[in-house]
Amino acid sequence: MNLIFFIKSATVDLENYTIKDIPGSSGRLDVISRCILAAILSNNNFEKKIEIWVFLDNYGTYTFNPESLDYANFPKNELMLTDYFVNFLQKLNSKEELNQNPLNSIKISKLSIIEAIKKYQQRNYCIVVLKEDGKDFFKLRNIIQEKDNVIFVIGSQEGKFINSKELQALNLPNLSIGTQSYLASSVIRLIKLHLKPL
Ligand SMILES: C[S@@+](CC[C@H](N)C(=O)[O-])C[C@H]1O[C@@H](n2cnc3c(N)ncnc32)[C@H](O)[C@@H]1O
Repeated sequence: MNLIFFIKSATVDLENYTIKDIPGSSGRLDVISRCILAAILSNNNFEKKIEIWVFLDNYGTYTFNPESLDYANFPKNELMLTDYFVNFLQKLNSKEELNQNPLNSIKISKLSIIEAIKKYQQRNYCIVVLKEDGKDFFKLRNIIQEKDNVIFVIGSQEGKFINSKELQALNLPNLSIGTQSYLASSVIRLIKLHLKPL
């Protein structure tokens, strides 16, 4: 199964970014970094067949696919990944400086999250929205495990997009992994755990 996580943030803003206070100075880019690490890192290696797309309202769309990333150089903690991602976003126009950045092989997409969802709907991907008040994920887990390609749409720290009319208009199944509200990065780890082939 190919597993893709989609996460969108409307709050990331690097105008006053400082590594000394990432949550407070980046519009919660730390949440996104934790989700990237949760999605693509496995024990001492990258995950196979798992990628994450990050949709930043203020900076565009970036895809982290281990097939185009170098594990040895990849920043494996939240602080380093965030700092390199900020450097990448701020140096996009300077090829030279980007060459020094271990994230220089992440892919840039022109698609918005809605356009990306519609694109993969046309390709018959199984697309699921993860929401605390959704239907029971565990009742559908076996069906999902049979699918070749699955996309999970997850909200960031604020639930605006996940509860938005534009997403609801796509009539995607909403699934819940329990009544507790988990951090987005924890949800990613739990989904990976529960979809791991038995
Ligand atoms: C920190 S939560 C967002 C909490 C936010 N205050 C809200 O009201 O949506 C981040 C995202 O993780 C996912 N999530 C959290 N707990 C979940 C659960 N029990 N089942 C399914 N998805 C969950 C949802 O996509 C949520 O938008």
